[in-house]
Amino acid sequence: MTITANANPLSISVVQSKPMPAVGLGFWKMEQSAAADLTVHAVQSGYRHLDCASDYGNEAYVGTGIQRVLDGGICKREDLWVTSKLWNTYHRPENVKKAVQRSLSDLHLDYLDLYLIHFPITLQYVPFETRYPAGWFFDPSAASPRMELDSVPIIETWQAMEELVGLGLVKSIGISNFCISLIRDLLSQCTIRPSVLQVESHPYLVQPKLLRYCQMESIAYTAFSPLGAPSYVPIGMATESESVLTHPVVQNIASAHEKTTAQIVLRWGVQRGTAVIPKTSKQERLVENLSIGDFQLSDSEMQSISTLDRNRRFNDPGDFCEKAFGRFYPIYE
Ligand SMILES: NC(=O)c1ccc[n+]([C@@H]2O[C@H](COP(=O)([O-])OP(=O)(O)OC[C@H]3O[C@@H](n4cnc5c(N)ncnc54)[C@H](OP(=O)(O)O)[C@@H]3O)[C@@H](O)[C@H]2O)c1
Repeated sequence: MTITANANPLSISVVQSKPMPAVGLGFWKMEQSAAADLTVHAVQSGYRHLDCASDYGNEAYVGTGIQRVLDGGICKREDLWVTSKLWNTYHRPENVKKAVQRSLSDLHLDYLDLYLIHFPITLQYVPFETRYPAGWFFDPSAASPRMELDSVPIIETWQAMEELVGLGLVKSIGISNFCISLIRDLLSQCTIRPSVLQVESHPYLVQPKLLRYCQMESIAYTAFSPLGAPSYVPIGMATESESVLTHPVVQNIASAHEKTTAQIVLRWGVQRGTAVIPKTSKQERLVENLSIGDFQLSDSEMQSISTLDRNRRFNDPGDFCEKAFGRFYPIYE
């Protein structure tokens, strides 16, 4: 199969903002040493949407890549969509501006297109001088390290996020890993509505009610881990056999369209109205994952992929916080 590069014209409407390119490049677990070159290659391949976060520990390297892109005239700042995320240790209102300024400085930008609250999980503040990024442990060198909780109402963090819009540091603000009840509560109190919700979404975690609710509320929906299990196999949170990319239904549809199974799963995500932000550190997959604009899935193909749903959440704080960070901390139930 030949995969050709095509700058991706697909986009998702975002209220009070320019459209968000429907396919972005995710940077979680991207090696620092690869991040700058990958950023440049991605933009050269047609990507205009970069999904970053303080927690990924590579924003300074992505920033080097962004600077090379902008200095080299590969594209203009206004043609890029750059997202970053407020980490759990910076939810106290007095820390929110500091956190975005650190991300901006690392990314070599003077504004973000989107700033998300990464998780509805509030951890004790860790100063930058102590450790950056802060991660989940309060003190990794403690005898029994674990996450230490803080208690900050989401609306207080949100109001500090709203101030960032007024200051011109971010164009839009949103949320990640929030459930519907929490979004409802936020909508009842906010001045600026969240423009985007970023959540795990793939054919084994379809979340039709969440997507429908977001569409009803004009909140754009970005699917993270859009390929499902592969991101979680190397870190022991999924098994190879849980990969939707090897499911016969997806394989048959891929053969029919002469596309890869990853392209089918990403196309399904975009065609149901979500943005997708696949991560890859391989140049050939950059092009593959972006090249999903030249074919369409039929209604019955869309339906047969959606019915693969197993409600399988790979990235669940209710599981990994206890195993990895010493605290039982469910957020979705
Ligand atoms: N808001 C949040 O809490 C949150 C949580 C998780 C992720 N995210 C964001 O969402 C992005 C994407 O999620 P993710 O990184 O977890 O998972 P993903 O993008 O669904 O999958 C990435 C994995 O799939 C592999 N892969 C990429 N393209 C492929 C292809 N065409 N065929 C086969 N395998 C392929 C990658 O390996 P190679 O690198 O070797 O290609 C990597 O192992 C993240 O990078 C991050 O930006 C956000």
